[in-house]
Amino acid sequence: MTFVDAQIAPTRKTGHIKLHGPEAFEGMRRAGRLTAEALDMLSEFVTAGVSTDKLDRMAFDFAMDHKAYPAPLGYRGYRKSICTSINHVVCHGIPDARPLREGDIVNVDVTLLVDGWHGDSSRMYCVGAVARRAERLIDVTYEALMRGVDAVKPGATTGDIGWAIQEFVESERCSVVRDFCGHGLGRLFHDEPNILHYGRPGEGVKLTPGMFFTIEPMINLGRPQVKILPDGWTAVTRDRSLSAQFEHTIGVTDAGCEIFTLSPRGLHRPPYTPDQPLR
Ligand code: MF3
Ligand code: CO
Ligand code: CO
Repeated sequence: MTFVDAQIAPTRKTGHIKLHGPEAFEGMRRAGRLTAEALDMLSEFVTAGVSTDKLDRMAFDFAMDHKAYPAPLGYRGYRKSICTSINHVVCHGIPDARPLREGDIVNVDVTLLVDGWHGDSSRMYCVGAVARRAERLIDVTYEALMRGVDAVKPGATTGDIGWAIQEFVESERCSVVRDFCGHGLGRLFHDEPNILHYGRPGEGVKLTPGMFFTIEPMINLGRPQVKILPDGWTAVTRDRSLSAQFEHTIGVTDAGCEIFTLSPRGLHRPPYTPDQPLR
């Protein structure tokens, strides 16, 4: 059993994947936009000396101010509003009192429940100047997410998404974490289907307009293996290599897909790639 099955997967798998209509798309647009705005708001506070507890509190206050609820809070015993995963932490890092330090890379993962719909997104932030290999890992991870997104269209499969990500990441001599995956969501936080970030073309579930899910590749500079710390949540790379992650919530449309968690201010992409086309 993977950590996903243990921690965040739906308790009972039915094989049924929900297909949503226009009103649900409207709900997801609102939830996704507010989630992106929360990540935008946090961006100027991710600096040396600030604790991840402070970021957690700001995210909680932001949710309250916007009539939203931070879905992680109370979820399967989790006691914070966001996840903050620093350096070799792969995902589900728990905010605490330690100050961020110059050179850290940190993933902030926000999930907001807005009028019954979940927006789930994460981004990488750099604390001051970071190592060149850390910048490269962040760029590779963002490109991996977007290659996965670009593979989404009716008739394609979840395996096509995984393959698009894995093939690119491994060509960059990085590795794809296998123990966590993207997930269906909507009125539920974690629903079917699982979205693996590796795979083979044509495998898995066929994509259909109206499906909602996340793509959230975790990419390591070293080997893909992870372990969970005794707190029961924090996943770290076994070889202590750096890890990065980006996450979007998307819906499958007739034309391809709609990304619900784009930043209105364009802050969802890493800042180191002015030579790449914006998307
Ligand atoms: N937001 C994470 C995801 O992308 C899940 C966090 S579950 C928590 O699926 F309980 F750790 F918050
Ligand atoms: Co998610
Ligand atoms: Co998330």
